[in-house]
Amino acid sequence: MADRNLALELVRATEAAAIAAGRWMGRNDKEAGDQAAVDGMRHMLTTVDMAGVVVIGEGEKDEAPMLFNGETVGSGNGPATDIAVDPVDGTTLLAQGRPGALAVLAMSPRGTMFDPGPMVYMEKWVVGADAVGVIDIDAPTTENLKQIAKAKSKNVSDLTVIMLDRERHATMAQEIRDAGARLRLIMDGDVAGGLLAAMPDRSIDLCVGIGGTPEGVGTACAIRALGGEMLGRLWARDTDEAARARADGFDLEEILTTEKLVASPDTFFVCTGVTSGELLAGVNYTGHGVSTDSLVMRGSSGTVRRILADHTDRKLEELGALGQ
Ligand code: FBP
Repeated sequence: MADRNLALELVRATEAAAIAAGRWMGRNDKEAGDQAAVDGMRHMLTTVDMAGVVVIGEGEKDEAPMLFNGETVGSGNGPATDIAVDPVDGTTLLAQGRPGALAVLAMSPRGTMFDPGPMVYMEKWVVGADAVGVIDIDAPTTENLKQIAKAKSKNVSDLTVIMLDRERHATMAQEIRDAGARLRLIMDGDVAGGLLAAMPDRSIDLCVGIGGTPEGVGTACAIRALGGEMLGRLWARDTDEAARARADGFDLEEILTTEKLVASPDTFFVCTGVTSGELLAGVNYTGHGVSTDSLVMRGSSGTVRRILADHTDRKLEELGALGQ
């Protein structure tokens, strides 16, 4: 795509989303927190030289007037790109002041992001570079854990699995416990879960379970840079949804590889902590400015940067996020 590392410009958009949304921490208002993030992110995206189209956005235009699916973003000059936005992954975490909410943005060349259409959920398996090629989605969970452990020269009891705490995962959670692996159940935020599983220096070996398709496509863009593997499969909540998906041409049996989820290695992925969590520190308002903690990744080079930034009051003012 472009010679320049657009992620270094895009990170300003997740920083802005996090700075604006962070004011809503623990205020029990998911929508307001998300809207603040959308406004902050969109404000910064206008400055980036690209002809972006939001492929994975905040929904249909009528419900979400900004960053909706199909909206064009960027200055219009520069590379033609697909954009996936998740201004807050973990809106409930933010509203309840719990750890791990992130502002997320991913980008790839135009026409390369998988479009899940109306499909809300997908099964996801994410591992790091040292366990690529060993997962078989159709194999029993225990077998997959054995293979991951073998690839990492560990025992199954050394593995730590991260999974959304959902009733739909009850059987798999029990299989993981029975196999002897350690299990981390998280309330929300499986983008962070996937990144923790794929990053070499973190203590998670596998992120597994059914979560949002938008989050899945965003995660795949990061995996392109991190070098791990993500496998997915669309998941219908009931037979009606399955029938509608099939009528729309979706294959519910197909295994969605990282390459299918984003069909170019030339991805960019950025995220900024909103509330502090295992992956990143949250936004910290210092009284005379604000600090942020972000990850910036580029698929084509595999470069992963961590950016700690101090912003002045002028940034807060620009984003309408000055304190009282
Ligand atoms: P939101 O920020 O949109 O609430 O998403 C949080 C999240 O936990 C995602 O990380 C995850 O993919 C999805 O929700 C799971 O969906 P559900 O909460 O319906 O099980």
